[in-house]
Amino acid sequence: MKLVHPTVQKALKASDDLTPFAFDLQRLGHATARPAARPAAPTYEEFLGMTAIVAAPSMRRLFALAARVAQTGSPVLITGESGTGKELVARAVHHYSERSGRPFIDVNCAALPEHLMESELFGYEKGAFSGAEGQKAGLFEAAHKGSIFLDEIGELDSRMQAKLLRVLDGQSYFRLGGSRKVVADVRIVAATNIDLESSVRTGTFRHDLFHRLDAFQLRVPPLRERVEDIHPLALWFLRDTGLSLSPEAVAILQDYAWPGNIRELRNAVLKASMNVTGDEILPSDLPVNLLLRPSGEEDSHYSLDGLEQQTICRVLAQTGGHQQKAADLLGISRRTLIRKLKLYRSPARAGESLDLVGSGAAGSRSPGADPAIARRALDRELA
Ligand SMILES: Nc1ncnc2c1ncn2[C@@H]1O[C@H](COP(=O)(O)OP(=O)(O)OP(=O)(O)O)[C@@H](O)[C@H]1O
Ligand SMILES: [Mg+2]
Repeated sequence: MKLVHPTVQKALKASDDLTPFAFDLQRLGHATARPAARPAAPTYEEFLGMTAIVAAPSMRRLFALAARVAQTGSPVLITGESGTGKELVARAVHHYSERSGRPFIDVNCAALPEHLMESELFGYEKGAFSGAEGQKAGLFEAAHKGSIFLDEIGELDSRMQAKLLRVLDGQSYFRLGGSRKVVADVRIVAATNIDLESSVRTGTFRHDLFHRLDAFQLRVPPLRERVEDIHPLALWFLRDTGLSLSPEAVAILQDYAWPGNIRELRNAVLKASMNVTGDEILPSDLPVNLLLRPSGEEDSHYSLDGLEQQTICRVLAQTGGHQQKAADLLGISRRTLIRKLKLYRSPARAGESLDLVGSGAAGSRSPGADPAIARRALDRELA
C-alpha cells in the first residue's frame, strides 16, 4: 500500500528545487566535482502501521526482493547494522506474503531471560513450573498461519535453537509440562545485527539452524551506503515541526558515517530542531559531532590541534570557502579564522593541515567535504 503524506511531500518538493553546492562549485571553478546527492523522490510504504521512507535505489531493490521472497513461504534472515530498519523489512515480508491477513508476532530474543523464553515461545501446561496456574499457548501457536519475527536471533541459547529447528522443519513440539503434540504453521523471519557466521564458527550458533535461516538473506545496507535516503528521512522525522534543512546542513548529514544509522539520524535532527531559530535547520544547529567526525574516520589518532584544523577546513569546504560564513558557523571572528589559516600555512606546519583535510575527507561523498574544494578555497583566500 502506498501512502503519500502531504506535509512531507510538500517539504520534499521544496527541497527538490535546491541544488546543494552548485553555487560553490561554480565559484570555485570546480566544474568536474561530483554533485551532492539530490533528494530522490521517496516512496512512503506502510507495513503493519509503520511507515518506511524509501528513496535509495539499494533500498528499493531490497523491498522488491522482500516482496519476491515473501511469496516463497521460506524462512528469511534479515541482517544489517543496528538501527538500519530490519524490523520494517520483517514487516514488509509479512505484508507481501499470503499470510498478511494472519498474525505477525514480534519477539525480541534478547529481551527475555532464557528460562522465560521457552515458556513464551512454546507455551506451558498447568503446573509445568511453580506459578503456572493455568495453561498458556506459546507465541508459535499465537502466530499459527502467520509469521513470527525473531529479532536478535543470535541471542537464543542452544536449547532454544534446537527447538526452533524442529519448528522450522515443520515438526511437532510439546508445551512445557505438556504431553500433547503441537504443530505450528508459522513463517519464521529472523533478524540479527551480529555476524551469525562468526557465531557459527565460535560454536555459539548452530550451523544447521543458520543454514536453514540463511536460505534467503536480506541485508539492510547501513545509512552511509544509501545517502539518497538521508534527506527524505530527516524531513520525515521533522514532519511535525514544519522545519526544513538548509542545503549545507543536508550536505553535512550526507557526509556523516552514521554508526547508529536511522536511529541516530532521527535523534540528531530532532535535537537540531530544538536549536533552530528560523524555519530551517542550519549546520550550526546540528550536533557538533557531525561536524567533527568525518565519514568512516577513526578519530583516535587526531590531536586536538589536528581536529581543530580539520574542522575549520571542513566548515570552509561546506561554505565554499566563504570565510565569514565559516567563522559564524565555528563561533569565532573572521580575524581569528584568518589567523588560524595563516598558521596552518606557515612553513613549519606546511603539509600538515591540508593533508589533514585530504585524509579527513577520504571517505566523504559530498563535494561539501571534498578536500580539493577546501584546498582551492584556502589557496584562493590566502593568495
Ligand atoms: N526506511 C525507514 N523509514 C522510516 N523510518 C525508519 C526506516 N527504517 C528504520 N526506521 C526507523 O528507525 C528506527 C530503527 O529501526 P529498526 O528498529 O528497524 O532498526 P533495527 O535494524 O531493527 O536495529 P537493531 O538491530 O538495533 O534492532 C525505528 O524507529 C524505525 O521505525
Ligand atoms: Mg531491531
